[in-house]
Amino acid sequence: MRSILEKKVVILAIESSCDDTSAAVIIDGILRSNVIASQKVHEEYGGVVPELASRAHQQNIVPVVDTALKRAGVKAEDLSAIAFTRGPGLLGSLLVGTSFAKGMAISLGIPLIDVNHLQGHVLAHFVEDGTGLNHPSLPFLCLLVSGGNSQIVLVKAYNDMQIIGQTIDDAAGEAFDKCAKVLGLPYPGGPWIDKLAKLGDANKYPFAKPQLAGYDYSFSGLKTSFLYTLRDMLRERNLETIDQLTEQVPNLREDMCASLQATIIDILMRKLKKAAQDLGIRQVAVAGGVSANSALRQAFVDYGKRYHWNVFIPPFSFTTDNAAMVCQAGYFKYLDGDFCAIGEVPYAKTTI
Ligand code: KG4
Repeated sequence: MRSILEKKVVILAIESSCDDTSAAVIIDGILRSNVIASQKVHEEYGGVVPELASRAHQQNIVPVVDTALKRAGVKAEDLSAIAFTRGPGLLGSLLVGTSFAKGMAISLGIPLIDVNHLQGHVLAHFVEDGTGLNHPSLPFLCLLVSGGNSQIVLVKAYNDMQIIGQTIDDAAGEAFDKCAKVLGLPYPGGPWIDKLAKLGDANKYPFAKPQLAGYDYSFSGLKTSFLYTLRDMLRERNLETIDQLTEQVPNLREDMCASLQATIIDILMRKLKKAAQDLGIRQVAVAGGVSANSALRQAFVDYGKRYHWNVFIPPFSFTTDNAAMVCQAGYFKYLDGDFCAIGEVPYAKTTI
């Protein structure tokens, strides 16, 4: 028998694209729960190990979904539909969430909604979580920066997005993580660089900046420039390790982090500014894991003041992978009656 929630739209969403198992519930457009189990197992390997990620998802998914339903005060029978991240992401990880969502949808006899992970990051800006979040009005530009993506997205409608610029090689998050690894910092390196950069001189090491036309990005040259700066310093001093170098060069890690972070942010913001000017758009948002970076968030505030933009910076809980954003995308699709066939399969790669 169905409960008093029968007439409400209750969406459960499952996110399992990489190394976070997450489930969220939205009831009539309001986020009621967002549970995230982050996987610590990858730390000692310096990056996500796909097989370990899918095994951890299998362990986490039942308690995570159960907790999300309990926190939202609903039962499985109250659900109107189940949304899931279909891709892009690690195939083994996606399979866990997809199969679980399918199993629940079949057993409950309710529709299934597939969500593009990248669109989910952008639509995180529309989550109503009761804290009075500001939502961008359409159309707006969204800088989507994560471990796997660096894109400028023109958002024309909830279901109509266009990538107008993107990285031709590494993503910004990848540049943070790989440079952090060179410095001997733990994985993921982005938050460590953010922390150390606060203590460093951003002008100390001038790194290479790409000269690409249009709105596209490139971060591989910067990564090489970072590596060669350290290599040359080691050679000059006849040293072998970064630890030896840090003993001889005061504040090395902090200054390298500050200079790297400032360069990445400058590259990101210049192209975004050009896009905003060319298109005459002043609604500008940021999304994805790298949007947790404190200096990037400050750069948005500063650019907003300087160029009269309305800026939208997500709360920290919506920056890295989470099911709340998937649930929001799923909710919009539910209202459109845009459901997915039970036989659909996840995809590792796709565009927005
Ligand atoms: O969106 P996300 O959780 O996963 C992907 O889908 O890639 O983003 C993860 C990325 C990692 O590269 C991580 O180092 C970066 O976001 N990141 C940060 C910060 N917090 C997370 N990068 C710079 N500063 C941060 N505070």
